Amino acid sequence: MDIKDQHLNLAQWYDVIETALQDTDAEPILNLRDDGAGVYDAIFLGGGAGGRFGAAYLRAMGGRPLIVDAWPFLGGTCPHQACVPHHLFSDVAAELDLWRWFSGQLFFPDWDPGRASILEIIRLFLRGRSSAHAFMNWQTKEQLDVEYVLNARARLVDAATVEVAGRRFEARNLVLGMGARSRHPDIPGMELRGVFDFATLVEELDYEPSRCVVIGGGKTSLEYGSFFQATGCQTVIVSRSPLMRTPSLHHVDEDLRRYVVDGMRKRGVEILEGAEPVAILGSGKVERVVVRLAGGETAEIETDFVFIGTGETPNSAMARDVLGVRVGPQGEVLVDKTMRTNVPNVFAIGDLIGAPMEMFKARRCGVTAAKNIMGEAAEFDFSEYPDFLHTTYEVTWVGLSEQEARERFADVIIIQMPPYVEDLDTEHLPLPCADRTMLYAFAKPELSGFQKLVIDGESRRVVGAHHVGYGAKDAFQYLDYLIHRPEGLTIDELGNMNELFLNPEHFIQLSRLRAGRSELVNL
Ligand SMILES: Cc1cc2nc3c(=O)[nH]c(=O)nc-3n(C[C@H](O)[C@H](O)[C@H](O)COP(=O)(O)OP(=O)(O)OC[C@H]3O[C@@H](n4cnc5c(N)ncnc54)[C@H](O)[C@@H]3O)c2cc1C
Ligand SMILES: NC(=O)c1ccc[n+]([C@@H]2O[C@H](COP(=O)([O-])OP(=O)(O)OC[C@H]3O[C@@H](n4cnc5c(N)ncnc54)[C@H](OP(=O)(O)O)[C@@H]3O)[C@@H](O)[C@H]2O)c1
Repeated sequence: MDIKDQHLNLAQWYDVIETALQDTDAEPILNLRDDGAGVYDAIFLGGGAGGRFGAAYLRAMGGRPLIVDAWPFLGGTCPHQACVPHHLFSDVAAELDLWRWFSGQLFFPDWDPGRASILEIIRLFLRGRSSAHAFMNWQTKEQLDVEYVLNARARLVDAATVEVAGRRFEARNLVLGMGARSRHPDIPGMELRGVFDFATLVEELDYEPSRCVVIGGGKTSLEYGSFFQATGCQTVIVSRSPLMRTPSLHHVDEDLRRYVVDGMRKRGVEILEGAEPVAILGSGKVERVVVRLAGGETAEIETDFVFIGTGETPNSAMARDVLGVRVGPQGEVLVDKTMRTNVPNVFAIGDLIGAPMEMFKARRCGVTAAKNIMGEAAEFDFSEYPDFLHTTYEVTWVGLSEQEARERFADVIIIQMPPYVEDLDTEHLPLPCADRTMLYAFAKPELSGFQKLVIDGESRRVVGAHHVGYGAKDAFQYLDYLIHRPEGLTIDELGNMNELFLNPEHFIQLSRLRAGRSELVNL
């Protein structure tokens, strides 16, 4: 289907994408200048977050990129199966949480678990997801002027040639952005009906689960487990490491972690830490999960639904076998800070190069590769970044945990809400509170959140910030920039900012209460 000279509107794009998703024989979608003749500056293999942003930046710099993708849309995994459904589920979880705590009070109806259907939310997502895809196809063609071939799986021929849709395309550079796929534990029973991961959940769930076992202790497990529980589907999380202590998460403060995990338990999630899955049992369909518990004994958990959140493996085999790019122990393509692999003129970006598997990293990797290809020397160091996950809350953090700060600095100051003072009875303190936690603050104060600022008392610089609540994530993007720039961010500068009361994080006003002291103390 050649759409170069067509200018489809969003509804038309929606139809093209939905038709292609339903028909495995649908033809490739071609948006090519000069029918793809000539040599491109770069072919982006994979039009996910990394490939789309990289190609758009390269085009903006005056280059000629080509994106190729197996799906009939641009944007990749995030809007199709991963981040976007997860954000919908987490939004739903937060709404349901409020309903469940306030069941039958104020204007809330009695909690009715039959009303909160996982299947219905997934169907809502499936009806809507191609709208975002349509927008990205439209924007990339009409506004960003980037050429692409979609709905066609590509094959690497050599470091300058990609074969897709029965044709060969040539480029001076290749940018590999093929992403990653779910990694499953090697245990019996994984093939049973009723075992899902984040991708198959949205593509294949066709019944309403009544009980759930989640395997894993990283972001995916916490986020999906919290959602399932919030709908009334009794959930057990089976995790080898303590929750949030898997190596892919860094700088997690222990007080924040405890607030999050205790909060999940308060909401009825059963959490088995130090536990490993042994087998999934059932005749045709999942019936039980056998687990080795922390003490070594085994237990059988009855369930009709197993959700696997045990991480992801980069899709690197073709690049390794055809081009000889070097890969690391997890299958991640090895790159330097310019996104160059060991093969000249071959770059790699996003989830393909391993953790952290996050959107900001994928997009900025793409842009970094584009700049280097266009002759602007650029490096991207993603060793430090702001981070977040959802439970029924938004959980956000940046910089050092309190413990990490104490290992690095002699005089660590903590500004925290609720404050830690023995016998203060903070269970009944309606702070912190802000938009979206006001009902909790007045009726269930211990549920209204947690926040902590970590300061090096000597330099007076903020070195870490941690937040559980709602609405603070945006601020952490800018806090990350401020605290990691060479001059840092002091408590004095923070206390001098203008807050918009009632702000989700109380860092500005709390800093102002202490900044007047020449010798800082905790608050
Ligand atoms: C459950 C879940 C929730 C998440 N939530 C968040 C979140 O809230 N925030 C966040 O920052 N990150 C989140 N992530 C991570 C985020 O989804 C990824 O980091 C991001 O999508 C990676 O983008 P990418 O471009 O590297 O890969 P992808 O988006 O996976 O793109 C890879 C593309 O390559 C294409 N491709 C692969 N092989 C071929 C081939 N041979 N031929 C043609 N095309 C090919 C695929 O079709 C795909 O479109 C989440 C991940 C998961 C699993
Ligand atoms: N921003 C977001 O909201 C978001 C959401 C989801 C995912 N992501 C990103 O996507 C990537 C994948 O996340 P993830 O949570 O799926 O994976 P992850 O962070 O790699 O965590 C995997 C979890 O599974 C466990 N595990 C791995 N193999 C196992 C096995 N064979 N048996 C039992 N347990 C096993 C790990 O235990 P151990 O700790 O013991 O190894 C760990 O608890 C990460 O980079 C993450 O940042 C981001």
